[in-house]
Amino acid sequence: MSKNDKSLRELFEAAKTAQANAYAPYSRFRVGAALRTPGGAIFSGCNVENAAYPQGACAEAGAIAAMALGGERRIAEILVIGDGEGLCTPCGGCRQRIREFADATAPIHIAGPGGVRASFTLGELLPHSFGPEHLKA
Ligand code: THU
Repeated sequence: MSKNDKSLRELFEAAKTAQANAYAPYSRFRVGAALRTPGGAIFSGCNVENAAYPQGACAEAGAIAAMALGGERRIAEILVIGDGEGLCTPCGGCRQRIREFADATAPIHIAGPGGVRASFTLGELLPHSFGPEHLKA
C-alpha cells in the first residue's frame, strides 16, 4: 500500500466512524466527513438533523467546525461518505464552506460504504467561486 493509499484509507476510516454517529432520524441518510490539514491532522463530522428541518447541519460543516476549534485553518483534502447508489457530493452550501479554507486544487473524495467512488477538485465542484480574497480592496 502506497503512502497515498494509506492516508486516503485513514481519511475514509475517520469519515466512516463519524458517519456511524450521524443523527439523521428525518432523512435517514447518514453522512460522515473527514478532512486533513496540510500538517496531517484529521478532523471529522457527521450530519445532525433537527425537527425544524432547515436547522439541520451537514457532516462537512461539523468537520470544518471541529477543525476551527482545533486551531487549524486550512483543508488539504476532504472525504465525504454516504450510503445509497449515488455519489454523496457536498451540497452547494458546503462547497462554499470548504472553499473558505481550501485551494481550488484540493481533492474532494466521495465514498460509499465500500470505499472511494470518485474524486474531484474543489475547482471542479465550485468553479469561478467567490472567496475571502474577493473582499480585499
Ligand atoms: N448531507 C450532508 O451532511 N452532506 C452532504 O454532502 C449531503 C447531504 C446531509 C444533510 C441531511 O441531513 C441529509 O444528508 C439528507 O440531505
